[in-house]
Amino acid sequence: MQIITEPGQMQSIAEKLRLNRQCIGVVMTMGALHEGHLSLVKLAQQTAGTIILTIFVNPTQFGVNEDLHQYPRPFENDVALAKAAGVDFLFAPEAEGIYPEHYQTTVACSEVTKVFEGEKRPDHFKGVATIVTKLFNITKPHIAVFGEKDAQQLAVIRRVVQDLNMDIKVIEAPIVREQSGLAVSSRNIYLSIEERDAATILYKAIGHAKKRVAEPEYNLAAIAEEIEEMINSTPGCRSDYAGFVDEATYEPVETAETGKEYRLLLAMYSGTVRLIDNAKIRA
Ligand code: PAF
Repeated sequence: MQIITEPGQMQSIAEKLRLNRQCIGVVMTMGALHEGHLSLVKLAQQTAGTIILTIFVNPTQFGVNEDLHQYPRPFENDVALAKAAGVDFLFAPEAEGIYPEHYQTTVACSEVTKVFEGEKRPDHFKGVATIVTKLFNITKPHIAVFGEKDAQQLAVIRRVVQDLNMDIKVIEAPIVREQSGLAVSSRNIYLSIEERDAATILYKAIGHAKKRVAEPEYNLAAIAEEIEEMINSTPGCRSDYAGFVDEATYEPVETAETGKEYRLLLAMYSGTVRLIDNAKIRA
């Protein structure tokens, strides 16, 4: 596995791979690799012959009071995990290489970024859309694998790829969960044992929503309220949002129609740690 830090060098390697008719698959991460990231690599390897894994803690997607400076950066361990997973190139640029002085261009996507996570974290998705576009231009992939765990992010990336005519196949990888149901995330390391235990309410809330929709209960707004109550009545937990969007448009939906697919989006705090989760639910 080769480690590359210069965007220009990564770009010329990717160009050579393309000239040699290699299918390039990219997996983008902010490091602190875990089972979820490794499952993305595995999925990419099913289609692509060359895998580029990117590690970059992107400052532009963090809000002022968020955890940019505390974000875990276990680089040596990440290198070992990437190597063992069969990654071919690890692209780990410095912030100055990605956002040099006088940098002033951003990629902004509109409607899909206005609700739920986008509403709570203004500019977050602008930072994501910009870095993902830049990393696409640097790594020149044929395919890119992103996790369903960040479902709204995935919807934003699909929109950008489609709207900007990028010739890249975006593949969704299923959420990897711990035995307790907690979705694996780099931020789980911030959780104390008690907070981790309490956080399992998020998965229980998803189970509750699935059960209610299956009854069938068409009032999605009422189900979202029940979920928020479940979370808020769990000691140490506080709901940040719970709601349903139309899976195709990401527009918020209050009443279900039979046969349609919805995405339940959830965010909560366990102690001070903010966690997100989601599920696709068919009415
Ligand atoms: O999902 C992430 O880890 C990040 O948002 C991404 C896609 C690597 C962009 O920084």
